Amino acid sequence: MEKFVINGGKKLHGEIDISGAKNAAVAIIPATILAQDICRIENIPDIRDVQVMVKILIEMGATVRYINANTLEIDTRYISSYVIPYEMTKYSRSSYYLLGALLGRYSHAKVAMPGGCNFGGVRPIDFHLKGFAKLGASITNDNGMIDAQAESLTGGVIYFDKVSVGATVNVMLAAVKARGLTVIENAAKEPHIVDLANFLNLMGANVTGAGTDVIKIKGVKELHGCSYSIIPDQIEAGTYMVAAAAAKGDILIKNVIPKHLESITAKLRECGVTVIENDDSVKIISDRRCGNCKVTAMPHPGFPTDMQPQMTTFLALSEGTSIVTDGVWDNRFRYVDQLIRMGAAIQIEGKAAIITGVPKLHAAPIRADDLRAGAAMLIAGMCADGKTVIEDIYHIERGYERVVEKLQGLGVDIEKVNFPDEEPKVVTNSAS
Ligand code: EPZ
Repeated sequence: MEKFVINGGKKLHGEIDISGAKNAAVAIIPATILAQDICRIENIPDIRDVQVMVKILIEMGATVRYINANTLEIDTRYISSYVIPYEMTKYSRSSYYLLGALLGRYSHAKVAMPGGCNFGGVRPIDFHLKGFAKLGASITNDNGMIDAQAESLTGGVIYFDKVSVGATVNVMLAAVKARGLTVIENAAKEPHIVDLANFLNLMGANVTGAGTDVIKIKGVKELHGCSYSIIPDQIEAGTYMVAAAAAKGDILIKNVIPKHLESITAKLRECGVTVIENDDSVKIISDRRCGNCKVTAMPHPGFPTDMQPQMTTFLALSEGTSIVTDGVWDNRFRYVDQLIRMGAAIQIEGKAAIITGVPKLHAAPIRADDLRAGAAMLIAGMCADGKTVIEDIYHIERGYERVVEKLQGLGVDIEKVNFPDEEPKVVTNSAS
């Protein structure tokens, strides 16, 4: 089994480039199913979640040409089926976006659901299905295969009780070729929603309001190919910002959109970290033990839930008492057990983590419970004195491109080591 081995306690220095946004890429790649000809997509992160989504498209009959590791040309003209079996979807939660894309193309989609995930229990998709029904689709669940079909899709008004990134994406994909006007109210406003809308509009769609609570989509007959570059990953950038704040040092994080990082910057500054914003980079300077703060993870533009584990780890080492609440996922604190084993003083009370800052964490064998919990373990290992060994690192490699190389470039003593006598775990679906 492969593990990360980190000798912690070193300050971070140097600079890194942020890759393309995972959560934009896993929505934009299935969106190419709607195009009548080739789409060229640049700045795609070379990570497992993207590789799995590309593999599904190829198995569906698409042609994918790698111009380089981060630039693809995708031709979905010869896809011949709207049925995606579990064998193809079980490795990626984002495969449910194929429902919206296939429904948008064929007015019919039959996709096996990828099942639960490592936090939040079984990830529900009731909002997605409600949205499809509002567009005129009838939905049945056939042994875990969601079957959505309509004579033809017609626009409608969809109100989401709770902000949902996935449901917003899926309805956008289904609605761009539906007849008439679709209005999504209480829509998600994440940067990756805006990125998807920009991509769809470049293909000839008519999507307005992305980034606000109300997205309007006027159906068009056809969507053509286009050339597009994915936005930088807000969460990858935030992860490295918080890593430098926790481990101390002075780093420059390049290829970012500072506006997407505003809530993270605000919280780090509140704790006494120096954050200098440039046009397309941010500089983090942290030279002393930081202060405490209260953080509530909320939909964008709130503090991102995908930064909650990383921030909790940083606050575990800050002075005073901090409180982190997750307003998006009900039980996204499983990773705290690992931090406590390293000496953190954290109590979970309902949806909140009550954190009493400690001066040091000590190294221990730990595991990555899911993608962002794994990122938090990396930060804990960087800060802890001694050698921390992290297992189940496949979670981390799903969403962080060249993570060992990037961290080594910042002076982190980290290596990926194979432990041949330990069986690798079977990887199926996972939180994404
Ligand atoms: C997306 O997941 C992201 N994944 C997640 O990032 C992220 O944590 C989440 O949005 C919130 O920002 C991708 O973009 C691939 P939601 P998604 O629908 O779409 C409830 C990462 O680390 N809900 O916004 O699945 C749900 O239970 C991953 O990159 C319903 O009740 O999240 C949750 O409480 C982890 N019914 C809340 O809404 C539904 O039909 C928000 O979920 C859908 C969601």
